[in-house]
Amino acid sequence: PKVIFHHDNGETDVVESPDGTSVMKVALQNAVAGIVGECGGQAMCATCHVYVRDGYLDRLPEISEDEEEMLECTAASRDETHSRLGCQVVLGPDLEEVEVDVPGSQI
Ligand code: FES
Repeated sequence: PKVIFHHDNGETDVVESPDGTSVMKVALQNAVAGIVGECGGQAMCATCHVYVRDGYLDRLPEISEDEEEMLECTAASRDETHSRLGCQVVLGPDLEEVEVDVPGSQI
């Protein structure tokens, strides 16, 4: 699978990811700027916030209660439609590619 990260400054990172890896982990493993992932993927920190682009939204897993709570605590304001925690978006056969905008701030 593949993750495409769009940054505030107009730069883009395109990163290959193995199946079963979250958007947050892919970002950290490839030193993609703007994703912190402080809690290690437990849906407890909201520093992996991303805005998923249209066209991928219907392939994402449902938002869990934990994720829902953390999405209320993001540094950059939540977008009702596009905001997700990067650690809860996992690449694999159901999601071969995803394109996200990285918020300007996570803390
Ligand atoms: Fe902490 Fe995603 S890494 S909520």
